[in-house]
Amino acid sequence: MTAGGLERIDCDMRQILYISTAAGSVIANDANEILATSNRNNTADGVTGLLYFDGKRFLQALEGEPSAVARALSRIEGDPRHRAIVILSDRTVDAREFGSWSMAYRATGTDADGFIARVADLVSGASANVRATFTSFAEARRAA
Ligand SMILES: Cc1cc2nc3c(=O)[nH]c(=O)nc-3n(C[C@H](O)[C@H](O)[C@H](O)COP(=O)(O)O)c2cc1C
Repeated sequence: MTAGGLERIDCDMRQILYISTAAGSVIANDANEILATSNRNNTADGVTGLLYFDGKRFLQALEGEPSAVARALSRIEGDPRHRAIVILSDRTVDAREFGSWSMAYRATGTDADGFIARVADLVSGASANVRATFTSFAEARRAA
């Protein structure tokens, strides 16, 4: 891409990674519904990212223009389908690092490994609390 909108949008973007625990009643159907809503809203807002769900926890990367990411996050934080949201990483990036999907989806399995490894890298510089939260998530996942 040379000149144009995307290039402007891609400069000074906010990237957020968080982990959360699904509400007891959340099932695969809810994940589909969450994805449909995410694709609709994120496409309109220029927000992209990845959502991982193992049946118990969500791990999500959100990237985009800072105010658009903040709006998405505040809607997400109020969603009763999950709780105990922990922000693993919140930083400014020059370019999208998690692809340009309006919201890609990863369930358990090898397909998720690359995503989780990249999150592990980003979390390595975070506080002890954040690292512990992510490590327990990664360990529970390996044991599953
Ligand atoms: C784990 C999780 C991830 C979500 N991700 C997004 C997202 O990336 N974008 C989004 O617009 N809504 C997302 N949602 C849904 C929002 O919480 C909220 O329901 C939705 O944005 C409301 O949109 P509407 O007013 O268009 O129905 C997510 C919800 C959950 C539980």
